[in-house]
Amino acid sequence: MEYKFCGKSGLKLPVLSLGLWHNFGAIDDFANSRQMICTAFDKGITHIDLANNYGPPPGSAEETFGKVLKSDLASHRDELIVSSKAGHLMWNGPYGDGSSRKSLFASIDQSLKRTGLDYFDIFYSHRYDGETPVEETMMALVDIVRQGKALYVGLSKYPYEKAKEAFSILKENKVPCLIYQDRYNMLVRDVEKGLLQLTEEQGSGFIAFSPLAQGLLTDKYLHGIPQGSRAAKESGFLQQDQVNEPVIAKATRLNEIARQRGQSLAEMALAWVLYNKRVTSVIIGVSSVGQLNDNIDTLNNKNFSTQEIDLIEDILNQ
Ligand SMILES: NC(=O)c1ccc[n+]([C@@H]2O[C@H](COP(=O)([O-])OP(=O)(O)OC[C@H]3O[C@@H](n4cnc5c(N)ncnc54)[C@H](OP(=O)(O)O)[C@@H]3O)[C@@H](O)[C@H]2O)c1
Repeated sequence: MEYKFCGKSGLKLPVLSLGLWHNFGAIDDFANSRQMICTAFDKGITHIDLANNYGPPPGSAEETFGKVLKSDLASHRDELIVSSKAGHLMWNGPYGDGSSRKSLFASIDQSLKRTGLDYFDIFYSHRYDGETPVEETMMALVDIVRQGKALYVGLSKYPYEKAKEAFSILKENKVPCLIYQDRYNMLVRDVEKGLLQLTEEQGSGFIAFSPLAQGLLTDKYLHGIPQGSRAAKESGFLQQDQVNEPVIAKATRLNEIARQRGQSLAEMALAWVLYNKRVTSVIIGVSSVGQLNDNIDTLNNKNFSTQEIDLIEDILNQ
């Protein structure tokens, strides 16, 4: 594994992190989830990305991680960076959703209980909710750190101006934003319009989620929607209409370039995200140890020639 300093902080993160959004819920096979977490750790993936609502049902991915921590990883706590988040719908009533101080404090206590952790390494505001004053959410994060419930804080899915405001409140209060998390992959590049630059200017790291566009940037859907895939599952967030002709046409051409590079499309898509020097780490989501190993093989070839980058750009712009 390779490790990179997270922004201007002293914390190093693995360039590949493991996300527990899908495939680690109570509906999933626990033995498989456990094997994926343990294999990832054995291969140097020290960073596990959680959120209060990951499952299904919501909360169960944190419980799965808690079980594995207890049975396999407890003695390795100091070698792990575990993150969680609050901000999306988690429980009914006025305090189970959004980014108020009340929600964040209630949620982190629940998350600590479910995982059995004493503290999170990183705690995120999962989203800007459009209503809560940014200052209220940021001061809750600051106090979460001051109370020892988390070591660092992060932001996810903030519009540019709100992110700017948030970075500056956190900085003023001496709890700078460690890391900014957003969607970034070959098909969705919104963060290139300013947020990536902002995170760098602010000294924050950047971590990309859905680097494979939930599987679209792999060879999985090139010939239809396979059984058991995320698009085929009722609980999956990848909708079948996202597996459409223009996307598959792009993936088919990209797959050909990957083949010429001697790697899978998944490997090339991860390498492409990491090629952007502003990216600290990519969070991979996997449903098997085989996929995990394939994705780790990305590290065998992360470089691109200018010609390859131009060719990829042409395909993406079509
Ligand atoms: N902050 C946020 O709001 C937010 C939002 C979304 C995600 N995240 C974080 O980012 C993590 C990753 O997101 P994601 O799961 O969407 O990531 P992703 O890497 O884009 O998609 C993962 C899916 O791609 C397929 N896949 C992965 N490796 C493969 C390979 N080598 N060959 C073929 N197929 C492969 C698998 O699909 P199948 O299951 O079909 O096999 C897997 O479930 C999440 O777990 C979560 O921690 C954060």
